[in-house]
Amino acid sequence: MKILVTGGAGFIGSAFVRLSLAERAEVRIVNLDKLTYAGNLENLVSVAGDPRYRFIRGDVCDAELVDRLFVEERPEAVIHFAAESHVDRSILSPAPVFETNLRGTFTLLEAARRHGVGLFLQVSTDEVYGSIEPPAEAEESYPLRPSSPYSASKAGADLLALSYWTTYRVPVIVTRASNNYGPYQFPEKLIPLMISNALEDRPLPIYGDGLQVRDWLYVDDHCRALWAVLERGRRGEIYNIGGSCSLPNREVVRRILRATGKPESLMQSVADRPGHDRRYALSSAKVTTETGWRPQVGFESGLAATIRWYQENRDWVMRVKSGEYRDYYARNYENRETELGSLVR
Ligand code: NAD
Ligand code: TYD
Repeated sequence: MKILVTGGAGFIGSAFVRLSLAERAEVRIVNLDKLTYAGNLENLVSVAGDPRYRFIRGDVCDAELVDRLFVEERPEAVIHFAAESHVDRSILSPAPVFETNLRGTFTLLEAARRHGVGLFLQVSTDEVYGSIEPPAEAEESYPLRPSSPYSASKAGADLLALSYWTTYRVPVIVTRASNNYGPYQFPEKLIPLMISNALEDRPLPIYGDGLQVRDWLYVDDHCRALWAVLERGRRGEIYNIGGSCSLPNREVVRRILRATGKPESLMQSVADRPGHDRRYALSSAKVTTETGWRPQVGFESGLAATIRWYQENRDWVMRVKSGEYRDYYARNYENRETELGSLVR
């Protein structure tokens, strides 16, 4: 099976590429990635020489390039990971988020419509449902109430993809996963940021009261769910993919501090994120009933493996934290009110 993966140099896309080539002899992968700040070919060193793998640097918004790739490669499936994926960055600069997440998805769907494809898998997020009052869990029919430019762009892209199924019968499936964590995640998201700051004895910035709840999914579990949906999902359907592990942020950070042997005094309350969703909660009953998938990695062992990876890959962390990262960190954290003064030193 030949798969066109977009965004395969990012966190989840690269985990999907590594896992698929390691476990499935019949798979061929073409990876289209623009290599933004979040794309990193170091994540793919282990597969770079594999004859079943091809990397193309390019933009999913480049219609000519995407068209040429469909003609040259004739992919049987598209797994569309490429996105601007971070809420805080989407608040600071929404334009690239709408460009990539909406125009990029549209460009790929158009190519799929013109050239045909066996499956177009739109990799989406539970954030499209917005904040969910306890004790409810969002099923796939839950209303879309995205709060941030990021989640609004993903909701829009999901609807666009589903319209291509309804109107043109492009065989689309949408998956909506909860918060992923694991090795190779860019240290702008909660877990890798807290691990890398803890390892460097830097303050850990907690937005607001830190009692916001997220459902944590180990990245390999997510990739296996995508395979389950690829093989057994129904076209035109949406599948939620949750980790069955809901925790308030403070508890996640406390566990990271305990596991790294650092004091809780490193936690520092800072001004809240505007429009911050209080709670995400997903029902994954549909994907489990229809495909048999369920998460295998518990939070304790997943977090331990993740922390170990960051401890053993400090060079990777140092490299991604140089340059652009410093500007982002200053823009996002420098002017935030804190209890103790500036976070950026
Ligand atoms: P990431 O930010 O780590 O990686 C994104 C990748 O897309 C990078 O390699 C980047 O270079 C590439 N990219 C960005 N713009 C591009 C463009 N215009 N053309 C080509 N490539 C481009 O993101 P991630 O965390 O791996 O997320 C992957 C997908 O999964 C996204 O669609 C995201 O919305 C979704 N998702 C993420 C999570 C999560 O917790 N990280 C949860 C649910 C869903
Ligand atoms: P994040 O990893 O950005 O994922 P998302 O907002 O997409 O769920 O953030 C997870 C939670 O952690 C969210 O409630 C915001 C919070 N958070 C902090 O408290 N401090 C931080 O520095 C970051 C990056 C996130």
